[in-house]
Amino acid sequence: MPKHETPLLDQLESGPWPSFVSEIKRQSEARHQKQNEVEYQIPVDVCDDVLGVLEMSYNDGTCHWKHGGIVGVFGYGGGVIGRYCDQPDKFPGVAHFHTVRVNQPAGKYYTTEYLRQLCDLWDFRGSGLTNMHGSTGDIVLLGTRTEQLEEIFGVLTHEMNQDLGGSGSNLRTPACCLGESRCEFACYDTQELCYQLTMEYQDELHRPAFPYKFKFKFDGCPNGCVASIARSDMSFIGTWRDEIRIDQEAVAAYIGGELKPNAGAHADGEWGPFDIQKEVIDLCPSQCMSLEDGKLVIDNKECVRCMHCINTMPRALRIGNDRGLSILVGAKAPILDGAQMSSLLVPFIKVEPPYDEIKEVIENVWDWWMEEGKNRERLGETIKRLSFQKLLEVTGIKPMPQHVQEPRHNPYIFWKEEEVPGGWQRDIKEFRKLHQR
Ligand code: HEM
Ligand code: HEM
Ligand code: SF4
Ligand code: SF4
Repeated sequence: MPKHETPLLDQLESGPWPSFVSEIKRQSEARHQKQNEVEYQIPVDVCDDVLGVLEMSYNDGTCHWKHGGIVGVFGYGGGVIGRYCDQPDKFPGVAHFHTVRVNQPAGKYYTTEYLRQLCDLWDFRGSGLTNMHGSTGDIVLLGTRTEQLEEIFGVLTHEMNQDLGGSGSNLRTPACCLGESRCEFACYDTQELCYQLTMEYQDELHRPAFPYKFKFKFDGCPNGCVASIARSDMSFIGTWRDEIRIDQEAVAAYIGGELKPNAGAHADGEWGPFDIQKEVIDLCPSQCMSLEDGKLVIDNKECVRCMHCINTMPRALRIGNDRGLSILVGAKAPILDGAQMSSLLVPFIKVEPPYDEIKEVIENVWDWWMEEGKNRERLGETIKRLSFQKLLEVTGIKPMPQHVQEPRHNPYIFWKEEEVPGGWQRDIKEFRKLHQR
């Protein structure tokens, strides 16, 4: 017998998609069945009360969590999102319902052994409910009480060699695409760079020292499988700077129909036989491809590495051998002054351990933003306020045409005083000698 009636939520148990309602109900039953075996450290009926308070929100169309919540573990300034129900008498199981962010492995590869250990801990000291994963990347343990936080942190660190993720005005948990682990498009080892920079900047991640949050994300190529250009203040996107490698036999096999375009991604539609002219050559954004005597030719100096031809004929076209990444900066959601995607800062940089060149760019940007950024101002907003020019100065990067999509059209151009013969100090009397009032 469920603790609360949930007629609205019950409707979400039908239909083909996995139902979060059915899953929470199953978890609730499991807790009740095992309550003699497991000495639950938070109320056994936490899942019933989650459904109860959610049903209430479905009924009245508003949220029933109190504002904010500041909890955590000693030594760190973030990692746990505190939360308290605004109906604690009705739903005592979720009076405290804090979320613990746990730093996930790069690429989110797991062993069942690790996951079982984590589930055992969370069954015992939490709600048993999770989010796999938060949009930043963390394993999200959803719902526990304040007294449990240090206990959980103790087991994570002492028994599982596992740290918390980030929250607050700091470096958040970095994330990457799965990169070279199983993608032929990967231009660098995204997982390794993600891991190494996460380790390098642990202090910045655990103890907020920034004007606002800051995120890293690592994409192995411009396809952007971790969406770094939209969801990280500093986006690392793999690329190459030599030639696309062409296997002409495989090109012929695509033309002849033996190989499926886009690895069969459109196989369930009626798109007719593959037409290399229509589907590749004519769609190349820089129009730098052609077919000559049945052979595919690419004018690589005009190629913008958009990935389209490689995506379409993965067996015939491969990324170049001279690989690295581009660094883009400033992506953020709309609050306060509008959404931004990242802007190109470093067109190409090699990815070589110990990544000193990459760290230099990061630290130059931080040195500037940590001093000049206003309270709760994202990097993208600081750049807007103080200018991209300033960003180039502090990173020691020379302005180049690749920094802009197009040049400015307004003539409100600032000059440095030293660039202008005679400087700014002028005497009106000198002017009057030539020009009467
Ligand atoms: C109580 C819970 C949360 C609150 C109040 C919250 C609040 C915010 C705020 C204020 C922003 C910034 C918007 C801006 O700068 O324009 C943001 C962005 C974002 N948050 Fe959260 N957040 C919460 C939970 C989470 C969780 C659990 C994750 C994933 C682990 C997450 C991932 C993100 C992402 C990916 C963005 C967008 C990218 C960005 O601009 O930084 N948030 N959130
Ligand atoms: C030979 C005659 C004139 C010349 C050479 C001249 C030149 C200029 C120039 C160079 C500017 C731009 C200043 C800047 O953007 O810093 C300007 C702005 C302006 N001028 Fe003239 N102008 C002349 C006559 C006039 C007249 C007769 C009027 C009005 C009756 C006028 C009204 C304005 C206004 C309203 C602005 C805009 C001010 C602003 O945007 O802040 N000008 N003029
Ligand atoms: S971003 Fe590129 S390298 Fe990474 S998984 Fe996607 S296609 Fe592969
Ligand atoms: S990667 Fe893009 S720009 Fe370069 S040749 Fe292929 S389709 Fe054209």
